Amino acid sequence: RTLKEYKNETYLDFSDPTNDKAQKKAIEEVRSNFGKEYDLYINGEFVKGDAGTFESKNPSNISETIGVFQSASKEQAFNALGKAWDAFEDWQYVSAKKRADFLFKAADVVRRRRLEINAWMISEAGKNYLEADADTCEAIDFIEYYAYEALRIDDGMDVLSETWGDHNKSFYMPIGAGVSISPWNFPFAIFVGMSVAPIAVGNTVVAKPAPDTPRMGSLLAEIFEEVGLPAGVFNFVTGGDIEVGENLAKHPDTRFISFTGSRAVGLHLNKIAAETHEDQNFLKRMVCELGGKNATVVDEDADLNSAATEIIKGAFGFQGQKCSASSRVVAHQAIYDELLEKVTEKAKALEVGNSKENYISGPVINQKAVDKIMKYIEIGKEEGRLVAGGKRAETENEGYYIEPTVFADVDENARIAQEEIFGPVTAFIKAKDTEDALRIANGVEYGLTGAYFSKDPKKIDNALRKFRVGNLYINRKCTGALVGAQPFGGFKMSGTDAKAGGRDYLKYFLEPKSATLRP
Ligand code: SER
Repeated sequence: RTLKEYKNETYLDFSDPTNDKAQKKAIEEVRSNFGKEYDLYINGEFVKGDAGTFESKNPSNISETIGVFQSASKEQAFNALGKAWDAFEDWQYVSAKKRADFLFKAADVVRRRRLEINAWMISEAGKNYLEADADTCEAIDFIEYYAYEALRIDDGMDVLSETWGDHNKSFYMPIGAGVSISPWNFPFAIFVGMSVAPIAVGNTVVAKPAPDTPRMGSLLAEIFEEVGLPAGVFNFVTGGDIEVGENLAKHPDTRFISFTGSRAVGLHLNKIAAETHEDQNFLKRMVCELGGKNATVVDEDADLNSAATEIIKGAFGFQGQKCSASSRVVAHQAIYDELLEKVTEKAKALEVGNSKENYISGPVINQKAVDKIMKYIEIGKEEGRLVAGGKRAETENEGYYIEPTVFADVDENARIAQEEIFGPVTAFIKAKDTEDALRIANGVEYGLTGAYFSKDPKKIDNALRKFRVGNLYINRKCTGALVGAQPFGGFKMSGTDAKAGGRDYLKYFLEPKSATLRP
């Protein structure tokens, strides 16, 4: 198998009644299993937590409990890390082909369980059908792409020069056992990607899912158990962010810390990674993917209907809870009013409701998110002109619903134009001309994604060079990077720009070795 065979998984079309019905049936099945208990998965065994249990709730209807999960103690987390090191002894020398075979099998299981996985995600994270299916497809893509990449990397590095009779070669070595700490917003795709990448190239991992979406993580434990991945290569540990996450990051034996989440936590972990313990004999590898304050820039010659449609998707897809979301719109003054009107009208038309019914806008993840987003909406009312949304959304269910919200006439330095909100809120900022628009777009501490709308090839070329973001999209939304096609990661405070789903990513979990062979 080679990378040439790799193809992105295609999303299901839920406007087709057959798919809609099949997804609804899977949701009913999953719902009949709500409230069950799930265990930790350490060294190939499902075990209880020593520090009690916690519940995962349905954000669309908080009276519903998705499942009961284990709180691991610090000692259990450390034990999992120890088992991961034990497993590394063998796993590091398992051939790339054998490792990839486990992964290709795992991808097939995800394909088989696809609607069920979607159903758990719709229930636990509040995604609509398409957002959930895109997440599951991305997980399949990550597994297969990294498997193919592992095979390619196994072929060795570049052709090196021969030196006076000596033969030189370079190849990559896995680095060891580490920890992956993942977020709730792509609860399957990112959890899977961050677990699989190190494993694909011979490392072992202790994976901690976000406390809001543990069921999504436990599905991967079930899948790896089914395909017979050797014990200890993948360990699944649920529990407190400090008890499990921070303590594992601090442990002197943690070889790498792979983190996706907020800027505040990422910087904290980065500091922890830099503290060297007496009995530590390596520098910890840190991979982090943090926030964004992404702008869609719309120039005066843009197709405004298309720009408005894409802004709605980029700003309000999964309720704006994506680090890639368009939480700013920077519009050229010549088209500002017209664009604002179009976006406002579309935002007001978005229906909010229970994700199991496939409302386009579902709930946000939890009460803390509601509080934060509503606080920013209040700040926005002072800083700008509210033109759509601005309230908790009324629905039949008690859930974390917020109306898609648009603010107009926001100053580029306003808090809602600078700080990541992570919710269904976007701010319109007026620019004098193209250069002013790009200057405003770049005027934040983040540099993750951006979108630029224009029909003029010269202007597009200019934006390609000057818009300082890790993922730039011309004439389309700034969310939804595809594995293998749009390697994902950002500049500046958006993280280490490791480019998940790209060729460079696996090298973060490898160290290159050079050898010289004299005959
Ligand atoms: N990769 C996602 C996107 O591009 C964000 O994590 O939207």
